[in-house]
Amino acid sequence: MSRAHVIVLGNEKGGSGKSTTAMHLVVALLRQGYRVGSIDLDARQGTLTRYAANRSARAIVLGADRLPLPTHVPVARAETTDLAAAAVEERRRFEAAFDELAATQDYLVIDCAGSDNFLGRLGHAHADTLVTPLNDSFVDLDVLALLDPETLAIQRPGAYAELVWESRKQRALRDRGSIDWIVMRNRLSALDARNKREMGHVLEKLSKRIGFRFAPGFSERVIFRELFLKGLTLLDLAEAEPARQLKLSHVAARQEVRMLLEALKLPQPQALASAS
Ligand SMILES: Nc1ncnc2c1ncn2[C@@H]1O[C@H](COP(=O)(O)OP(=O)(O)OP(=O)(O)O)[C@@H](O)[C@H]1O
Ligand SMILES: [Mg+2]
Repeated sequence: MSRAHVIVLGNEKGGSGKSTTAMHLVVALLRQGYRVGSIDLDARQGTLTRYAANRSARAIVLGADRLPLPTHVPVARAETTDLAAAAVEERRRFEAAFDELAATQDYLVIDCAGSDNFLGRLGHAHADTLVTPLNDSFVDLDVLALLDPETLAIQRPGAYAELVWESRKQRALRDRGSIDWIVMRNRLSALDARNKREMGHVLEKLSKRIGFRFAPGFSERVIFRELFLKGLTLLDLAEAEPARQLKLSHVAARQEVRMLLEALKLPQPQALASAS
């Protein structure tokens, strides 16, 4: 039986664009005709769950043929303060959602919370592809590496880089699989040339040291925010709002989403089926 290719969105730093990127990847894959499942491991905040619910509501108006939907499952953290019992319960909840979607979908997109917790670690350990959106700031880079303030030399891996290292070990132990880790810079501004350049140099060095690939990210654009309430993404505008005049910046943003998907180099479902 084939199993879905699993894409996890993770970064221990909050607000880096995980949920926004997750929804755009979900829709990009749906629009290519694939069956896509999504899991929200940050069910309390529930951004991806709200996004999916807004989209379902919109699809009732527009018709599901114009607005394809993922099969979405939120997985909530356990309520108990007993850590061992919570871990057992959270693993049960996660595996129930994962097993169902992995067996029935072509791709499975998992959105994690912006902090370290048990559910997030489970999600990471099941990744085939891990996507880490990163705000273009040294504050955000700190979770990937600790840097010398004068020379910007890398002193040691940061907390999130350690977590990915651990997840790679877990994944290898579980099924000898490996995780393709991709870091994408998000909310790039047209200004700030020096900071952007310095971030670029450090990330280049870091990618070799801690083992990730780069993907072109998204620029800072209002359109990435304003479609949330309608449950839409940039890839829906032509079908969902045909009367809308696409601005140049919308076309450029849509291109950024397509380029990200291309850079991920995801296996095709046919390849997934024959590999299993
Ligand atoms: N490229 C972008 N341009 C403009 N705004 C963006 C962009 N990407 C994300 N945002 C905005 O940044 C904020 C954080 O994005 P998002 O909720 O996707 O991040 P997150 O990493 O999932 O956060 P959390 O860690 O809290 O789950 C939101 O207001 C979102 O609309
Ligand atoms: Mg989020």
